[in-house]
Amino acid sequence: MKFKCIALINFLVLQCLAILGVSKGFDFFYFVQQWPGSYCDSDKFSCCYPTTGKPAADFSIHGLWPNYRNGSYPQNCDPNNPFNESETSDLISSMRRNWPSLSCPSSSGESFWSHEWEKHGTCSESLLDQHSYFQTALTLRQQTNILQSLKSESFQMEDLIALPTLKML
Ligand SMILES: *[C@@H]1O[C@H](CO)[C@@H](O)[C@H](O)[C@H]1NC(C)=O
Ligand SMILES: *[C@@H]1O[C@H](CO)[C@@H](O)[C@H](O)[C@H]1NC(C)=O
Repeated sequence: MKFKCIALINFLVLQCLAILGVSKGFDFFYFVQQWPGSYCDSDKFSCCYPTTGKPAADFSIHGLWPNYRNGSYPQNCDPNNPFNESETSDLISSMRRNWPSLSCPSSSGESFWSHEWEKHGTCSESLLDQHSYFQTALTLRQQTNILQSLKSESFQMEDLIALPTLKML
C-alpha cells in the first residue's frame, strides 16, 4: 500500500482521505492512528492501559477527523448529538480491540470514543451518523494495516522518511 498523504504528529500517524461530493462542511478526513509505545513513552502524557486489558503492540485507531484544506478543522459541531453507546453496541468488542484508550485513569474506552465523536464526528454527521462513523473507522483500520505496510516491500522509501520519529518497539 502506498499512502498518498501521511503526516506525523508526536505519536499520531495521520492519513488523508479524500471524499468526493460537495456541501459536507469540510474538505477531507484524516484517519488517525496511534502507536501505543510512543504514546506511553511521551513525556506529555501519562499512559494507562484500558480496564479491558493491555492493547496489542500494533497501531490502533485514534480518530477520524474532518479537516479543511487550509489546515484548520471544524470541531464540536453538534452539542445536540452526544455519544450514545447503545447506537454502537454491536461494534463495542471491535472498538475495544482496535480503538483502545491509553489515557489515565484507565477506562474501557467510552470517554475516548465520546470525545472523538463529539469533537470530530459531529462535524461529519452530514455524511456519517454515529454508527457509520465508528464503523467507517473500524473498516479503515482493517484496510490500512500500517505495521503490515512497513514490513512489506510495497512500502515506498519516500513514505518512510518521517517514520524514524516513531518509536518502533
Ligand atoms: C479554513 O476554511 C474554513 C472553511 O472554508 C473556514 O471556515 C475557516 O475560517 C478557514 N480557517 C482559516 C484559518 O483560514
Ligand atoms: C440512544 O440510542 C438508542 C438506540 O438508538 C435510543 O433508543 C436512545 O433513545 C438514545 N438515547 C439518547 C439519550 O439519545
